Amino acid sequence: MKRIMFVAIAVMASVALFAGAKKADCGKDFKVEKSKVDLKKASEVYKKNCASCHGDDGKGNTPTAQALKPRPRDFTNKEYMSKRSDCDIYTVIKKGGSSIGLSPLMTPFEKILKEDEIKALVVYIRNFSNKK
Ligand code: HEC
Repeated sequence: MKRIMFVAIAVMASVALFAGAKKADCGKDFKVEKSKVDLKKASEVYKKNCASCHGDDGKGNTPTAQALKPRPRDFTNKEYMSKRSDCDIYTVIKKGGSSIGLSPLMTPFEKILKEDEIKALVVYIRNFSNKK
């Protein structure tokens, strides 16, 4: 019986580790409260740190973006962006693309931006595809 328990725990742990490699994990019920973020600040931070690759319009059509492989996604693409959770977007900005299996050319910003700036950017990025 003890042995079976041990095997079961080992299997669960390795499954968790494997899943953790590609999936963002922010804890249960992670959500960025839209009303609590400073979008004006987010817009400044975005223009300074993100727009060179992702474009002022979020479409990822800048000359820099065109030189990248893979190219940044189009943030105005509602269908694609709706598959991304707040946690995914938050984790990509904080820990970089490779944290959820995307390109490492999307570098981590956890040392550059503050927590509330990252959260504000999540809402700012969502707004590209929420607008008509
Ligand atoms: C050097 C260019 C570059 C800069 C600067 C950059 N990104 Fe990215 N970003 C990328 C690339 C390339 C990808 C696509 C990775 C992929 O699809 O594999 C990406 C992906 C993303 C994604 C994931 C989109 C998806 O496919 O789900 C988000 C969110 C994102 N970037 C946000 C930001 C934010 C916010 C900033 C500024 C703080 C920023 N990026 C700065 C290049 C950049």
